[in-house]
Amino acid sequence: MGRFYLTTAIDYANGAPHLGHAYEKVLADVIARHRRMRGDQVHFLTGLDEHGQKVEQTARRAGIEPRAHCDAIAGLFRGMLGLLDISNDDYIRTTEPRHVRVVQDALQRLFDAGLVYRAEYTGFYSVRQEQFLLEKDRAPDGSWPSLLGEVVQLTEANYFFRLSQFQAWLVGHLETHPDFVYPRFRQRQVLEFLREPVNDLCISRPKSRLSWGIELPFDRDYVTYVWFDALTNYYSAVADKGLWPADLHVIGKDILVPPHAVYWPCMLKALGLEPPRRLLVHGWWTMGGAKVSKTQAPAAAAGEPAPRPLDALALARDHGADPLRYFLIREMTLGQDSEFTLELFRQRYRTDLGNDLGNLLNRLLNMAGRYAAGKLPAPAADEAPERELRALWSSTAAKYLALSSDLQLKESLEELWVFIRALNAYVDTRAPWKLGKSADPADRSRLDSCLAHVGEGLRLVATCLTPVMPTVSTRLLADLGLPPATRLDEGLAWSSVGVGRALAEKDILFPPLDPPATPAS
Ligand code: MSP
Repeated sequence: MGRFYLTTAIDYANGAPHLGHAYEKVLADVIARHRRMRGDQVHFLTGLDEHGQKVEQTARRAGIEPRAHCDAIAGLFRGMLGLLDISNDDYIRTTEPRHVRVVQDALQRLFDAGLVYRAEYTGFYSVRQEQFLLEKDRAPDGSWPSLLGEVVQLTEANYFFRLSQFQAWLVGHLETHPDFVYPRFRQRQVLEFLREPVNDLCISRPKSRLSWGIELPFDRDYVTYVWFDALTNYYSAVADKGLWPADLHVIGKDILVPPHAVYWPCMLKALGLEPPRRLLVHGWWTMGGAKVSKTQAPAAAAGEPAPRPLDALALARDHGADPLRYFLIREMTLGQDSEFTLELFRQRYRTDLGNDLGNLLNRLLNMAGRYAAGKLPAPAADEAPERELRALWSSTAAKYLALSSDLQLKESLEELWVFIRALNAYVDTRAPWKLGKSADPADRSRLDSCLAHVGEGLRLVATCLTPVMPTVSTRLLADLGLPPATRLDEGLAWSSVGVGRALAEKDILFPPLDPPATPAS
């Protein structure tokens, strides 16, 4: 049995959770549940990134202490995890002593090894933004944009990590590990970035400018740069559990280069630790073409109730976590961006979930009640339609396993739906309502076989769907008189475990949606 340690990005504690955060946690959760069902010993970590200037400023603006602010935000994010049925094993907050200790220890070790050094830095500094500026911050005419306020030249002593010393090693590592970043085109972007020499990384901020951070153990006038602090969470959370290296870091495309693909592997190398095995880089959910973010509140298009970022999460409140989880995984091609609209969600809900899956279950329950005293009969007849269905299943199961193990989750769901639609077509072909009227015993056998095949087909589908829709799948299996699915590989062989079980009378897995709200006049 393998062990599998996976993480998500830790969210910034400077705003409320939105669809972008939700998607990443669902994505990682589906992978975690999938690996558990393949027999891996999974450790799934997520958490909150609490330090830094933005968080400090947000708290100040709200007139509260950063710590109290972070406590409130942590409550919101943990609430989101509950709402989405995320099965994380641990939740790390970067203000926790277990994290602070490890960060300080790492800083001290790098300092002692001469890999962190002190140097003076002179640059242009925006007093209003409280940050050093880069040449690229200048307006096209060379002046500083007015939103930067007063810009002064400032000389400041800071501490630097010898990042440049690890560049050659990192390039070599990427070349020998072509699967380090998924999808592959992102790995090429990393190598592209590394074609230019990288600078050493400034990893300190004077406390006079920023106090909300982890103090440098060797100079108490400074706190450490928030990325040095945040990235270390992946290690600090498991430092005493012997779980390093991580098998998978799930992150968005905005934080690949340079933090996760450059700083992090080099920091680990400098500390004598292995790099993570793989980075999974997803794209963005957009609304109205713009990245969903905490500040974005798209204006409602005329006549259409455009969902605000939080309304997407309200879909989980209204319909349970599973339809939203299904939608997010089914709709997004991993690595690409995807546009979110309420209409798309409703369409998937109605067709894939309601019509294809929910109705199929009720067709079975209804027919079993009418023709088989509510029990799943044994498959008596075995003719071409049955054989074709089972043959389709064996290719579906193989494709589903291969695709879902290769992170092609959307495609794995598409394969499952080909089978679900084939089950529906099989029922139409067999037409049990006609067989039920026939006096021919051969037709009675065909009817029993039809019910048995749909029952077993649904069991297999529910097993495969368990990582994506855990609650609905478990409920579907219970309707078939079966326990929750725990294994994917073993559970995917065509069997007769359902035969003789008492079925539920009726179950509406996906209640019809209300008609779309009409715009207020
Ligand atoms: N705190 C840093 C990550 C530190 S990891 C050591 C951060 N936080 S974040 O809150 O801005 O973003 C957290 C994750 O959510 C990132 O992986 C980011 O890509 C993801 N998303 C934020 N908005 C998103 C969308 N609109 N769509 C999909 N995911 C996006 O970055």
